[in-house]
Amino acid sequence: STLEKTPSRAVGPTYRSEDEKPTATVSTEVPQSNVHILPQSSQLIALLSKIRDKDTDRADFIFYSNRIIRLLVEEGLNHLPTVEHSITTPVGHTYSGVKFEGKICGVSIMRAGEAMEQGLRDCCRSVRIGKILIQRDEETAKPKLFYDKLPEDIASRWVLLLDPMLATGGSALMAVEVLKSKGVPEDHILFLNLIASPEGASNFAERFPNVRVVTAFVDQGLDEKNYIVPGLGDFGDRFYTM
Ligand code: URA
Repeated sequence: STLEKTPSRAVGPTYRSEDEKPTATVSTEVPQSNVHILPQSSQLIALLSKIRDKDTDRADFIFYSNRIIRLLVEEGLNHLPTVEHSITTPVGHTYSGVKFEGKICGVSIMRAGEAMEQGLRDCCRSVRIGKILIQRDEETAKPKLFYDKLPEDIASRWVLLLDPMLATGGSALMAVEVLKSKGVPEDHILFLNLIASPEGASNFAERFPNVRVVTAFVDQGLDEKNYIVPGLGDFGDRFYTM
């Protein structure tokens, strides 16, 4: 696959002049308007530098991934609709606010996507969470659905689809097909992702223009084994075993 030229940018607080800030590799941009890349803040770049580092041990990998996952969930929730909601404060005044409308659920693409469940639970009390297992079929080399367990009323929920690494996009595309086959409208699906390849992000976003993708970073490309580069290696291995 062809590697994108990755942009570099000065990263740091606004009170520093551009030439006082360190330079870092920031996310590639993608043309699709349904792909939302988190602001490339110094916090985010520092967190990504931690989890990308091959010398980061498992405990730190989990800690810093969880911080990025939290940012993704918080941003993802901003894409859900709200309705006007006025309340009265203890001092007797009214506050015109909003509240979330509709029910949500998480759906993790196993195994790595399960690592994102806690971040979702931390933001949404007692959220329902379903699971989808997709693996490469040994015979056809194509992704195949092996297992799914989803809330029975999923068609009436907003779905936060969870998978940290979007490489070729094969599993994510199939997961959305599964959700659609259960009656979930495309525009009720938000895909939360840590790192995407440019081809994975573009393929996914073009195939499902009404699914919103919220990602922390679009990387340079894929290597010959379909690992994302620079990437972080195998997310599931690093989160669960190494
Ligand atoms: N899945 C991973 O865990 N890492 C990659 O680089 C690609 C897919």
